[in-house]
Amino acid sequence: MEEKYEAAKNCLTKHNQSQLLSNYKNLSSEKKEKLLDQILTIEFNQIEELYESTKKEVSFANDKIEPINYVDKGALTDDELKKYNSLGEEVIKEGKYAVVTMAGGQGTRLGHNGPKGTFKLGLDKDKSIFEILSDSIKKNSEKYGVIIPWYIMTSRENNEQTEQFFKQNNYFGYDSSAITFFKQGELPMCSEDGKLLIDENGLIKEAADGHGGIFESMRRNGIIYDMEKRGVEWAFIGPVDNVLVKMVDPTLLGVALDKNVQAAGKSVVKAGPKEKVGVFCKKNGKPGVVEYTEITPDLAEATDENGELIFGESHINCNLFSVKAIEEVSKKKLPYHCAHKKAKYINENGELVVPEKPNAYKFESFIFDAFDMLEDMAILRVKREEEFAPVKNAEGNDSPETAIKLYKDFYGIK
Ligand code: UTP
Repeated sequence: MEEKYEAAKNCLTKHNQSQLLSNYKNLSSEKKEKLLDQILTIEFNQIEELYESTKKEVSFANDKIEPINYVDKGALTDDELKKYNSLGEEVIKEGKYAVVTMAGGQGTRLGHNGPKGTFKLGLDKDKSIFEILSDSIKKNSEKYGVIIPWYIMTSRENNEQTEQFFKQNNYFGYDSSAITFFKQGELPMCSEDGKLLIDENGLIKEAADGHGGIFESMRRNGIIYDMEKRGVEWAFIGPVDNVLVKMVDPTLLGVALDKNVQAAGKSVVKAGPKEKVGVFCKKNGKPGVVEYTEITPDLAEATDENGELIFGESHINCNLFSVKAIEEVSKKKLPYHCAHKKAKYINENGELVVPEKPNAYKFESFIFDAFDMLEDMAILRVKREEEFAPVKNAEGNDSPETAIKLYKDFYGIK
């Protein structure tokens, strides 16, 4: 331990982060060991680079943004729909299809005490979101005569509670050997002057590295290997917080197969030029998503001859990838975006500081930053009222109240 301590101390001196050991002597030996391990594994150079990037103005002015082609599900003829569906169904029936649910988010806006998937919407005998998702996978497994593997990405913070919840509920009657939980990666947060922080447990404060971390964490946790072992070739990656998410959709898969591309994403029509959503586009010739903060008002408002927004295909985080594509992306580094957040921490005098305004930076990568690593991808426009009922905020837009209404309307529940 002596040696480890010396190595950690030297490393911190070199990176100007010696404050991390200020309260070391007050920690239990188990925590001392954990803290030293953290110090010796953190890539300080990466954090320094990320911190420096917070000072630079990000400019998108040089990106060439163009509209992207899409298939409008609602405008398909019966024959076209049949063609796509049978292409997709064949692959699903052969057991080559899996579902991945991203449930590693903190759900801060909803403010529910527990993982978002455990939130009960008061629907169908008070089902939790996880139960609603389980029911959908179960129904599809019966329909296609295969047990569809289900992978659930959690975070260090919510993994235990999530696994417990499934266990206590007997995996909602689904085959537990088909359900695999895996934890996403984390990155240290840093203060406004670039110092790493100590959390209430005396350890370095880390936070989930965003949903873009999914590819790397699928590789690190052996999920890609597990998929290959099970013969899975395609995986739908979707959010935990959309109660109308269609996780097993032969049309989406059929469109990808027909177009011979390695990924496909779902879009819904943007509600108006000012809606705060990212939209699919071609960015410098590659598929991408341009965020509402990045798009110029001119582009956001531009319409075609039918009066439709040219950049009107909202990204709803429902995407399909070939396992091959996941593997390729998992070996590359996605860019990080910085968020200014409130973060409680223990100061050098051992006191807990609870900030009233944002005081720290959190670094996250986004799943759609992987799109430009693909040669091309297919976009399927679906109907908002059929597939998009997000639970983001405690009240107002995209809240349990709006999600319940959309869910009931879709299923014809009174
Ligand atoms: P959001 O970005 O909407 O955020 O996640 P959130 O974390 O659920 O909620 P807020 O922003 O704190 O209120 C979209 C989807 O991506 C997952 C979420 O669980 C959700 O399914 N996600 C997000 C992760 O799995 N990991 C992350 O690091 C971030």
